[in-house]
Amino acid sequence: MVSQRAPLSILTCQSGRFFAKKIEKELIKKYTADVHLIPSSQVIFANTEIKTVIDESIRGRDVYIIQDVENHTEDMSVDENLRSIYTTIDACRRCGAERLTAILPSYPYARQDKQDGRDGITAARVAWELEGEMGVDHVITIDLHNSAIQGFFRKANIDNLRGGTVLVPYLKKLIKNREETLIMPTDLGGAKRANYYAQSLGTGIAFTYKKRDYSKPNCVEEIAIMGDLKDKDVYIVDDMICTGGTLSKAIIEAKKLGAKSVTAVCTLALFNGPAIERFSDLYKKGVLKSVIGTDATYHSKEFLKENIWFKEISVAGYFSEVIYRINTRQSIGDLLK
Ligand code: R5P
Repeated sequence: MVSQRAPLSILTCQSGRFFAKKIEKELIKKYTADVHLIPSSQVIFANTEIKTVIDESIRGRDVYIIQDVENHTEDMSVDENLRSIYTTIDACRRCGAERLTAILPSYPYARQDKQDGRDGITAARVAWELEGEMGVDHVITIDLHNSAIQGFFRKANIDNLRGGTVLVPYLKKLIKNREETLIMPTDLGGAKRANYYAQSLGTGIAFTYKKRDYSKPNCVEEIAIMGDLKDKDVYIVDDMICTGGTLSKAIIEAKKLGAKSVTAVCTLALFNGPAIERFSDLYKKGVLKSVIGTDATYHSKEFLKENIWFKEISVAGYFSEVIYRINTRQSIGDLLK
C-alpha cells in the first residue's frame, strides 16, 4: 500500500505544455487515474512582463511544475521561460501548495558553471533563485552539464536523472555487434558518461580532446581522437547539442579515421543556429548515420518529419515514474544510476 505525501498535482508553464501532456498521459496510464494537468495560463503584458494564473485550487497539494526553457516555438527566450517558471512558483506558494517541485529537463545556464575570467557563475544564481525564500523544495533535471551544479543548492533537493537510463536500452537493441562498436565522448568532460555507456553496452571506448576558442561563443577549433576507429560503428555521446559545432567536427574526424558508421547520441538536442543544416548536410554526404536524442526538449512534428536523420526517444515515462515514486514516498535510487 503506497501513501502519498500530499495529493499529486501537475502544472505546466506555457513552454513546458507539450512535455507536461506526455507526463500526464504516462502518469494516468501507468500509475494513477487521480491526476490531471491543473488548468493555468500565461499572460504576457504589452511591456513584456509575464504573469501566471492558476485556474484551480492547489492548496495542500504536492505540486510538480513542468517547464521546457529550451522550447522557443512561441518566441520565448530561455530567460522568458525562466521568468515564466518563477511567476508560476510564486503563484503556487501564494496559493498554499504543500510541496513544490520544479521539473526542468534542461537546466538553464548549465554551461555557466565555473568562472574562467571576468564572468559570472549564473548556474549558481539560477539555483538560488529557484530555491529562494518563496521558491521550490525540489528540482528535477536530466543530464546536468556539470553534476557539480547540484552543490549550488543549499536548501532544495536536486535530482539529476540520466539520459542513459532510457537511451542505453534503446542502443542495446540497435547494436548488433558489440566487438565492432566504439563509444566516444566529444571531450574529456564527457569521459565519465561515455564510460557508463560503453560499460552498460559492453563495447570499447575511444577518447576525444576538444580545443575551444573561448573568445567566441560556441566555437570549437579542433577535435583530436584517441583510439582505433577503423571499420568500427562509432557512437558519439554528449549531454547536449547546441549549434552542433562540437558534434559535427567529431563526426567528420571519426569518419576521417576510418569509422564504418557514425551515430550521435545526446539527451538535450537543442538544435540552435546552424545545427539542423550541419547535420542534414553530413547525413546527405553519408558521413552521419543518425542523431539519437530525447524529447527532454521540444521538437515539432514538422521537424521530426523533415529531418529523417533524427530519432527521438521519450523520457516522459522516466520522469513520470520519478514523480510518482517521490509523491508516494518510494525510493528513486535505482532510477538515478
Ligand atoms: C560542451 O562541453 C557540451 O558537452 C556540448 O558538447 C556543447 O555544449 C555543444 O555545443 P555545440 O553544439 O554548440 O558545439
